[in-house]
Amino acid sequence: MKEEKFAWKVKAAGRVNIIGEHVDYCGGKVLPAALSLCNTVYVRPNGTDKIHLRWTTLREEVTLDLHRLEEYRSLRYGNYQAGSALFWQRAGHQVIGCDMLQDCTVPFGGGLSSSAAIEVSTIAALAVAAGEAFDPVEVALTAQRAEREFAGVNCGVMDQYASACGRAGQAMLLDCKTLDCKYIPVNTGEYRLILFDCNKPHILAASKYNERRAETEAALERLRPATGIDCLADLPPADLPRAEKLLPPLLFRRVRHVVEECERVRLVCDAMRAGDMPTLGDLLNRSHASLRDLYETTGREADILTAVAREHPACVGSRLTGGGFGGCTVSLVRSDGVEDFEEYVCRRYEKETGLKAVCHAADIADGIAVTRL
Ligand code: GLA
Repeated sequence: MKEEKFAWKVKAAGRVNIIGEHVDYCGGKVLPAALSLCNTVYVRPNGTDKIHLRWTTLREEVTLDLHRLEEYRSLRYGNYQAGSALFWQRAGHQVIGCDMLQDCTVPFGGGLSSSAAIEVSTIAALAVAAGEAFDPVEVALTAQRAEREFAGVNCGVMDQYASACGRAGQAMLLDCKTLDCKYIPVNTGEYRLILFDCNKPHILAASKYNERRAETEAALERLRPATGIDCLADLPPADLPRAEKLLPPLLFRRVRHVVEECERVRLVCDAMRAGDMPTLGDLLNRSHASLRDLYETTGREADILTAVAREHPACVGSRLTGGGFGGCTVSLVRSDGVEDFEEYVCRRYEKETGLKAVCHAADIADGIAVTRL
């Protein structure tokens, strides 16, 4: 790859969600942070009406005709880029022919938002190639549309927003109803956040994700007449007993997760501000238990990976991050025990599952970054 042949380098971040899982599409607040794992697009205009795509990690080359972008939904490679270009075009922006080299360091299917990083960086690169200034929030919302309407995952706004608007060293307390975002320094003192990948491909994750989302919508329709709420995140915890009477058991479990997870987001922010790491760790554990028992999005491997993490004395909490059904865990680990923790978790996880867990080293980084080459 010859960087100097391209005109710009545009990157967008993967993300870790510290807490607030499966509440973004219920109007709740979430606490993600953008990661140094990212998708980088090297781009240059090519004077045609085609986008020519290459990857640093694949042999494939794909050409997208700008007049036929809606036809590329089932492409194995290039479908996210096609969807992103299509919805940016439909939003009224100029999309010009260009050559793109894509370089992704976010693990695919690992729950760290590789798809959001690809969508956001591709849209930002298209804007830059066309000589347009862009609004990162508009880029995020367009990327979310591409994920929902092109890739078919009925996602919330968290991943694309974090990928576009993240800031180095800061978590983002994002209100998914209003898009108000407060940046909170990630102060974990003597502790570090460690990411471990279950290393198990998540099969059917998209259809199960869509099923969960449909369940929360069905629950909201049943609760709305009696409670007057517009989104599940607005249901006060004190109203849970009333909700239980109005809902079938499965829908009530889903609602209880959402309401209590929203409460945990508030408590995690307090713990982070106070530097109270044992409380923060305990909240991570409780979030995982709720995803496992009430929301049913974890799976055997993630349950084992978090359980063996909690066995280690340096670890005060561990949970699955992201959409679930496999993917990555985030653990809060005392810095002086990190090396031993990593070795212990790998050994114990392999013994229990026969799989090799992968530890991802990442910092909390900026969302979009554009460099003129
Ligand atoms: C996926 C989705 C997000 C969010 C999480 C679960 O990552 O893309 O919108 O719903 O799952 O918190």
